[in-house]
Amino acid sequence: MSYTVETVQIELDDRGYPIHIGAGLLNDPKSFDRVPAATSALIVSNTTVAPLYAEALRHLLESRFRNVRVLELPDGETHKDWSTLNLIFDSLLLHGCDRKTVLFALGGGVVGDMTGFAAASYMRGVPFVQVPTTLLAQVDSSVGGKTAINHPLGKNMIGAFYQPHLVLCDLTTLSTLPARELSAGLAEVIKYGPIYDLEFLDWIESHIDVLMKRDPAALAHAVKRSCEIKAEVVGQDERETGIRAILNFGHTFGHAIEAGMGYGEWLHGEAVGCGMVMAAHLSYRLGGIELEFVKRLTALIERAGLPVVAPALGAERYFELMRIDKKSEGGDIRFIVLDKPGSAQLRSAPDALVREVLEQCSSR
Ligand code: NAD
Ligand code: GLY
Repeated sequence: MSYTVETVQIELDDRGYPIHIGAGLLNDPKSFDRVPAATSALIVSNTTVAPLYAEALRHLLESRFRNVRVLELPDGETHKDWSTLNLIFDSLLLHGCDRKTVLFALGGGVVGDMTGFAAASYMRGVPFVQVPTTLLAQVDSSVGGKTAINHPLGKNMIGAFYQPHLVLCDLTTLSTLPARELSAGLAEVIKYGPIYDLEFLDWIESHIDVLMKRDPAALAHAVKRSCEIKAEVVGQDERETGIRAILNFGHTFGHAIEAGMGYGEWLHGEAVGCGMVMAAHLSYRLGGIELEFVKRLTALIERAGLPVVAPALGAERYFELMRIDKKSEGGDIRFIVLDKPGSAQLRSAPDALVREVLEQCSSR
């Protein structure tokens, strides 16, 4: 190969797998060497990504599978639901796909989460491969085996833990990503700094401008370091009984914004970016960090092109939405907060403090 491919390994006993990161992987016949042999492959994509990349993927897979089909789902977070999921099962059954069929998720986190859930449940489980094409999916959603669809009452409420066989991050796909989606992905990159790696936070701060300009070397490092951190966390706690919860920094507030505004109105990464600002303010009020660190994080999130002021849903609506969260226990809302810069924990917080944060961070 004339280009560099980096590999990060997810260590999960017999469910471990590599994440290959490089430019041009979708044109390299060796990319799928580790995928199990089967008669059929189904590429699940959407109406935006399939016209860009499905032919290249199909071409590669045709040397390994007798039948390779492409399914184009409707695009968008609003379609991450039962009826769209069912289109995957319809296609698999219509074409007589057996239990060795391999699913390929070609797209962002929406396609990845739905394809993973379909793979987890079709004939009680078939192999699947993540081919993430957004920055957000390359640094977060394609890795670690969380799969889900939304319910009108709550984000990602129906799903399963189900690990892919392989993750293939072709960095060249990021060249066609809209600017707003690039920023959304940067939110999840930034997330790893305050919760886990202050050196990485320094690096992101000094490279945010070139990241926004899609400098290939900067993007390659951001994807690799993000995947390394996620691999370390998931390797310790696959099913989120402990440390994995820290990856939800900003998500309790963020999911409330997404659901409260109507799925798709705020991008997931935008809601997470703003949610991190809110979670940082809460961390400050709980005594974990100084106000200076809140300001530093807010400035970085803003420089990444992300919103830092939350929509005015009203405190009661926020509380109602935040109670429907997978981290809630017995109706008690729990947040990921920073107990110091570079370290996070899951805990509840007095309603009065949360109210102050909502008041301070929301638009009037
Ligand atoms: P997305 O999947 O909606 O993709 C964003 C948009 O970019 C879509 O319109 C898509 O069609 C388009 N697109 C994708 N790749 C493209 C490319 N290369 N060129 C041009 N357009 C392209 O959104 P996302 O931000 O990738 O993912 C968000 C979803 O991921 C949310 O549903 C969120 O809940 C989920 N998520 C899951 C996990 C997990 O651990 N499973 C983690 C984080 C987020
Ligand atoms: N995106 C959070 C997690 O994978 O746990």
